[in-house]
Amino acid sequence: MLDFDIRVAEDAGRLLRDRVGTRIDIGHKGDINLVTDVDLASERLIRDAIATHYPRHQVLGEEGGLADSSSDYRWVVDPLDGTTNFAHGFPVFAVSIALEYQGETLLGVVYDPMRDELFAAERGAGATLNRRSIHVSDTAELSQSLLSTGFPYDIRTSSLNNLDHWKNFAMNAQALRRIGSAALDLCYVACGHFDGFWELNLGAWDSAAGALIVAEAGGLVSDFVGGQFSNYKPETLASNGVIHPQMMDVLAIAKPGR
Ligand code: IPD
Ligand code: CA
Ligand code: CA
Repeated sequence: MLDFDIRVAEDAGRLLRDRVGTRIDIGHKGDINLVTDVDLASERLIRDAIATHYPRHQVLGEEGGLADSSSDYRWVVDPLDGTTNFAHGFPVFAVSIALEYQGETLLGVVYDPMRDELFAAERGAGATLNRRSIHVSDTAELSQSLLSTGFPYDIRTSSLNNLDHWKNFAMNAQALRRIGSAALDLCYVACGHFDGFWELNLGAWDSAAGALIVAEAGGLVSDFVGGQFSNYKPETLASNGVIHPQMMDVLAIAKPGR
């Protein structure tokens, strides 16, 4: 099933890349939450492939929601992670496809078609970038760490808008980035470009593949207080493991809503 996952992610990624520079139809799911015809076409391609090869499996896709069935297998699909980047022609976006079995992530694939970078992991079998093994960084100090995060689409109306954590990390880490694709953020922790990543209120489709890739690359993924990570819970904290306690300390400085 990993080979299938890789093939479909690459096909969908090529679809995204082929539409760069073409006319894009842009709609709004909210004030600043965009959806394009390319998101929809990519999800259709992925759903069609799954329906052909695994017709009984469940599919949870960002745009189409959950097509339920009694299967223990669930594909968790973000057909275009980084829609805002894509809509502006900023070339940082990816396809993310994970497979859960009875609620546990078995496989994760994230494909960045602009850099032709394919991140993949199978539970218990390690993580790869273009089929070569990858590992998290060994940075030991938060003050020497490059971190990444993202902001929720309700940033203007919710007090859980991550601005407090952003400020606190800015004062404690070496530097922060906001690249606009949570799936790639997680993969960049897995391969050591980033030492840590945190975000609130991600969808399962944003984090399912990337979280497995981090764990299989030797990193740690949890909620903000070190509890078990879930694709369906609001907090994602991923790191090389070493700086995890230091990141938890910074997240504890501001605790709105806890
Ligand atoms: C978004 C991106 C972004 C993150 C948002 C996500 P989308 O996904 O991953 O980096 O900050 O929370 O919703 O909408 O581009 O698929
Ligand atoms: Ca996404
Ligand atoms: Ca998306």
